[in-house]
Amino acid sequence: MINIAIDGHVGSGKSTLARGLAKKLGFNVFDTGAIYRGLACEFKEKGYKSIDENTISDFISSVEVKIFFEGDVQHVVVNGHDHTPNLRREEISMLSAQISPFPVLRDKVKDLQRHFAKEHNCIMEGRDIGTVVLPNADLKFFITASEEVRAQRRFDQVKDKPNSPSYQEILNDLRERDYKDEHRTIAPLKPAKDAIILDTSNMTLDDTINKCIEIINNKLN
Ligand code: DC
Repeated sequence: MINIAIDGHVGSGKSTLARGLAKKLGFNVFDTGAIYRGLACEFKEKGYKSIDENTISDFISSVEVKIFFEGDVQHVVVNGHDHTPNLRREEISMLSAQISPFPVLRDKVKDLQRHFAKEHNCIMEGRDIGTVVLPNADLKFFITASEEVRAQRRFDQVKDKPNSPSYQEILNDLRERDYKDEHRTIAPLKPAKDAIILDTSNMTLDDTINKCIEIINNKLN
């Protein structure tokens, strides 16, 4: 199987890039953040009051995660609850960043990810795919853009929705999540040694897709 890893910062556009590339290559996309988000939804639903090692161990020992695809949409089902409609809520973004550093939870997600990669030609996107989950991926990209560009892109997506956060709130949230992702002891966000780093601050989505396709064609013929 051919596995391409895409890691990068919050709001760097890696999910959109992964979907664009998958369409061109006929691959599956596996959005690993969605699993952490699905677990966060279930954690919230179960009403846990604190986030510590004991609570997370207790929680994770009782969860069963199933992933299935409906067209392009990756569904995340935890203990029979399909959390897909709630995955992108702001509170879930923050909660998933809080629960994701715990090794016992990451191990569970890692098993799911590796199982999927073994059976599919896929583009897997996340934070630690090139470094931890698929260290032998055929190709690794690390996508980033300046904080301001990332916050503006997110603001443009949500500004017309009711109760949408301000640009400044989005920027603050993004900084906080970057900090959590980069400073956790287990699987912190960083480029793998053999990753190709792309800063998309001044690139359109099409520019980025074309650049990646060129690299993929050169590397994988
Ligand atoms: O990519 P995302 O914003 O949907 O990810 C949600 C959270 O999940 C993010 O704050 C950190 C965590 N995450 C992770 O720790 N490792 C991954 N491979 C993907 C996401």
